[in-house]
This record gives sequence, structure tokens and C-alpha cells, in this order.
Amino acid sequence: MGLMRSALLMASQNSWLREKAPRYKFIRRSVERFLPGESLDDALAAARRLADARIGTLLTHLGENVTDPAEAEGVTNHYLEVLGRIRTAGLPSEISVKLTQLGLDLDAGICYGNLAKLIAYSPPEKTVWVDMEQSPYVDATLDIYRKARREYSNVGVCVQAYLYRTEKDLASLIDAGAAVRLVKGAYNEPSEIAYPKKVDVDQNYSRLAQMLLSLEARRRNVRAALATHDAKLIARISSWADSQGIAPSEIEFAMLYGIQRGEQMRLAKEDYRCSVLVSYGSFWFPWFVRRLAERPANLLFLARNLFSS
Ligand code: FDA
Repeated sequence: MGLMRSALLMASQNSWLREKAPRYKFIRRSVERFLPGESLDDALAAARRLADARIGTLLTHLGENVTDPAEAEGVTNHYLEVLGRIRTAGLPSEISVKLTQLGLDLDAGICYGNLAKLIAYSPPEKTVWVDMEQSPYVDATLDIYRKARREYSNVGVCVQAYLYRTEKDLASLIDAGAAVRLVKGAYNEPSEIAYPKKVDVDQNYSRLAQMLLSLEARRRNVRAALATHDAKLIARISSWADSQGIAPSEIEFAMLYGIQRGEQMRLAKEDYRCSVLVSYGSFWFPWFVRRLAERPANLLFLARNLFSS
């Protein structure tokens, strides 16, 4: 299981596969389960359908590691268009961006400038979310997030429960009244810095979620988005929150488009705040392989599409 995950995560970084694999029809068909389409219009249509079920959305244009400032500017302009379209359509949607898409590998200043443009253009009540990427980017991501937070209140950042350091990072984010998205973590990280066993990641997730929902965090107006599809973990967190007198409407869960749809609907019906991250765009291969790595049973689904094509 661990080996399969590592192999898939390595494949997600392979440039030959990145170029060739998306040409196969059975792979494209498998991706459709997690991607409403490649265009912004497809993503906005999905956001509208989810809004009708009282589910908010985070829109993300797939891509990572741009290598030229003009490309990073192009991504920024695209997100400015997305923010405009969300506003015009009156959708309960926010955006979620990867800093390497905004130029982090080129220059932290360029990246910050691009992020700041997005935050300034987004209405104050809507958070611009910053994704967390592989471990070498964690310090730079938190630095840029903190710089942005000193200027603007509507920016949030993702932290990963598989990293040992996250408890300390989270304590300082809570002190600053941050908006935080908690995830388990999607990349291949060495055991020197990350819990190698899933059971330990799950336990740490529970502990960090309790920090995010603590009285102290709520007093500091922390916005906590608990991003997981793990139904057992969701039940454990909800029942702990209930024992602390925290109402469902004060708890926000987030999931990915196409995963655990029944659980998304149930949470929204039971008055929890629920949002779904909708990805779109043509650069979906590494992202799709990370979804396969999260659940090797998805490989069976891929195989079924191969044999039925
Ligand atoms: P876990 O992997 O234990 O899965 C629990 C159950 O959920 C599985 O048993 C299965 O039923 C279902 N499930 C999970 N993944 C599935 C899949 N791919 N296909 C089908 N079923 C699946 N990561 C990161 O490093 N940086 C980031 O910025 C983000 N951002 C982000 C935003 C949002 C809204 C979400 C939901 C997730 C992320 N992630 C992320 C990804 C995250 O780190 C993690 O890899 C996935 O959420 C899978 O972990 P779970 O918490 O769902 O648990």
C-alpha cells in the first residue's frame, strides 16, 4: 500500500508520463469523475449545482511550477477573471491557488505581488486560499502567507497533518487569528519530517482539528476548514465538537469534487458548513495521479475504463 502510494507519487512527477498519459481516452474518462471539465465555464456550472445544494466551492485552475514571469502573470490574470465571474454570478465560491503557479520558483517578490493582486481584488468577506505544496515550499509559503495577512484579512493557508512541524505552525497561526485549511497531506515526504504511518497522520489530524476548534481559536476568530473525506474522522471530530457545545453551523468541512458526494450532501443537510474544491484546466495529470495515490482502489476504476474502451 505504502509502496503503491510512493510509486504513484513518483509517477505524478514524471515529465514523459505527464505529456503522454493525458492522450489516452481511458485515462481522460477516469479523470471526468474528479473534474467537471477543463474550462472555467464547466467549473462555474458545477459551482452553481453545488450552491443549489447549499454547498460552497473553492475553484482551482490546475497547474504548478511555472518557469517564466509572463506565465505567472497569465495565471494571475486568469484568477482575476475567475473572481469577476464569481461576483457576477453571485456564487458562494472562493479561489484556492498554488504559489508555484504564481511564480514562487522564480522569485518570492513576484509571487507575493501576484498573490496580493488577487487578495485585493477579492471581496473582503471571501478568503483567497493558499494551497500547501511539497515540504521544501512550506517555509516560503508560510512566509508569504504571513506577509499577506499583515496587509489583508481575507487570505487563508493550508497546513498538512502528516508533517511533524505542523502542530507548532498551527499554534502560531491560531495566535494570529488565521484562516486555516487542515489536510492530511498529498505528497511523498520522508519519515524524518512526516509521519510514515496513516494511523499517526489520522491521530495528528484529530488533535490539530481540536486545536482549530478550541475556545481560544474561536475567540481569535480563526476560520477552520477541515478538509478530509475520512467519514470516521469527520464523525469523531463532530462528536467531540458536540461535546464542547460547538454547533454544526460553526464547523466547516471541505472535500474534493466527485469524492464522498453522499457525505457532502449529508453534512450540508445537517447544517454543517460544507465546501467542495472544484479543479479545472488541462494540466490535470499530476493532480489526477495524486488522487489515485490517495486511494489505490481508484486504480480499479481506471482499469475498468481501460477494458471498457
Ligand atoms: P484518506 O486518504 O484517509 O481517505 C479517507 C477516505 O476518503 C478513503 O477511505 C476514501 O473512502 C475517501 N477518499 C479519499 N481520497 C479519495 C480519492 N482520491 N478518491 C476516492 N475516494 C477517496 N493536500 C495538500 O498537500 N495540499 C493542499 O493544499 C491540499 N488541499 C486540499 C483541499 C481540499 C478541499 C481537500 C479535500 C484536500 C486537499 N488536499 C491537499 C489533499 C489532502 O492532503 C489528502 O491527500 C486528501 O484529502 C485525502 O485524504 P483524506 O483526508 O480524504 O483521507
